Amino acid sequence: MRNGIVRTALYIYVPFFLLSMGIIFIPHILNFGEWLSFEGLIYIQDWNWSLILKGILLSVVIGFIPIVVAYFLFYGTYKKIWHRQKIARMFISNKYAESVPITRESQFGDKKLKKEKLNYFPKAYYRSKEGYIYLKIALDMTRHQKRYLELDEELEKGLFAELVDKTIEENYVNYKLLYDIEKNRITIHDVEVSDGKIKLMKHITWDYEKLPHMLIAGGTGGGKSYFMLTMILSFLDTGAELKILDPKNSDLADLENVLPRGSVFSKSTGIMMILRKSVEAMLERSEQIKEMPNYKTGSNYSDVGLKPVFIIFDEYVAFLELISREDRAKALEYIKQIVMLGRQMGYFLVLGQQRPDAKYLADGIRDQFHFRVALGKMSETGYGMMFGDTDKLFTFKDVKGRGYADVGGSVITEFYTPIVPNDYDFMTQIGHAVQGQESGATAVANGSD
Ligand SMILES: Nc1ncnc2c1ncn2[C@@H]1O[C@H](COP(=O)(O)OP(=O)(O)OP(=O)(O)O)[C@@H](O)[C@H]1O
Ligand SMILES: [Mg+2]
Repeated sequence: MRNGIVRTALYIYVPFFLLSMGIIFIPHILNFGEWLSFEGLIYIQDWNWSLILKGILLSVVIGFIPIVVAYFLFYGTYKKIWHRQKIARMFISNKYAESVPITRESQFGDKKLKKEKLNYFPKAYYRSKEGYIYLKIALDMTRHQKRYLELDEELEKGLFAELVDKTIEENYVNYKLLYDIEKNRITIHDVEVSDGKIKLMKHITWDYEKLPHMLIAGGTGGGKSYFMLTMILSFLDTGAELKILDPKNSDLADLENVLPRGSVFSKSTGIMMILRKSVEAMLERSEQIKEMPNYKTGSNYSDVGLKPVFIIFDEYVAFLELISREDRAKALEYIKQIVMLGRQMGYFLVLGQQRPDAKYLADGIRDQFHFRVALGKMSETGYGMMFGDTDKLFTFKDVKGRGYADVGGSVITEFYTPIVPNDYDFMTQIGHAVQGQESGATAVANGSD
């Protein structure tokens, strides 16, 4: 496989070259009696050299044409062969392939021929489907096995794809990479919420019931607020209750005009109150759930028919820095309780901040945020605070809403928030969604459907 491209090109080239030679020289070949005569072989200078040269040259060129046609027609196949070749070469250059020298007697004279005989090559299976590349490598307990588990970076860079999943099964490690991730970006119109999941890219959903709480970070203008607004709109459509906290009184605070009273807070007293009340309501809910007729041990809020509550908190670090030390300790305690107990009770926290700060995400709080997104420009330490120790190479692209995410599987991949069209008016759309929610509630109260 290491010379896959050249070999395939030759498989195409040689038959066409020979065919062309055959067609050009067929009358002469059929006439071989004449040119095989003694005179014919002796008087080489009398051969029609210009015809021979033209014929060969033409065949050389004709042989290339099907290669070019095949390249364009079967580009996907070409890519697959190229990937396999690269992976095989990576194994060889890293010395994962082992060979033993052998010496053989030459058939000509008494020279000895030295050769390398391959006696070990990693067992790997490559498959590519619908933009994904799947690579399965056998964990064969050789001295290379440890390295087979750490190929993330090599594969990402070498195949120019993003690692989206890595799993270990009996005998194998499976890498799943996605080619051209930006193609999987969706628009705000395609965001859907169902069964405790929200779709954020074609291949990424946030399964908030299983992997609760989201942490969003990123430099100014990275797209945090737009991303939060997008989710707010989608959650409203499901009838969820929302609490919006925006201590900088910026984008999200404008929702005050369209959301029901008691949903949006930007003053620190209001924010502290909401955090406290949410913890109280959550604890109350845990009692309430147990009293529901359809409660069984382990039931969560949705099993008994309750709606989720989303607390969307923008500029979280800025808020903690603004308040007094006692309040900060209290706020951190409330947040800790919500992230610890929220999953079963249906309380989900979405925290946004420009720059993550380890001291506000200490005591294992960060690990309770199962979905973590870093948008726009971030420093290496910022990435470290968001994703922990990783050898992932982070790059910046000047695309709004672009960044990296750990979607709960401890694999960090490139991430794009849903596209919001230029003329999109969040306030009007969210206003409509609230009206829809209210009229739905009235219909239920009136007993109609
Ligand atoms: N998903 C998106 N689709 C289209 N445009 C976007 C998207 N996200 C962000 N933008 C553009 O980028 C601008 C900045 O985005 P946003 O206000 O969400 O950034 P931010 O990270 O909240 O910044 P700050 O930290 O200053 O609050 C928006 O006004 C919008 O023009
Ligand atoms: Mg913002």
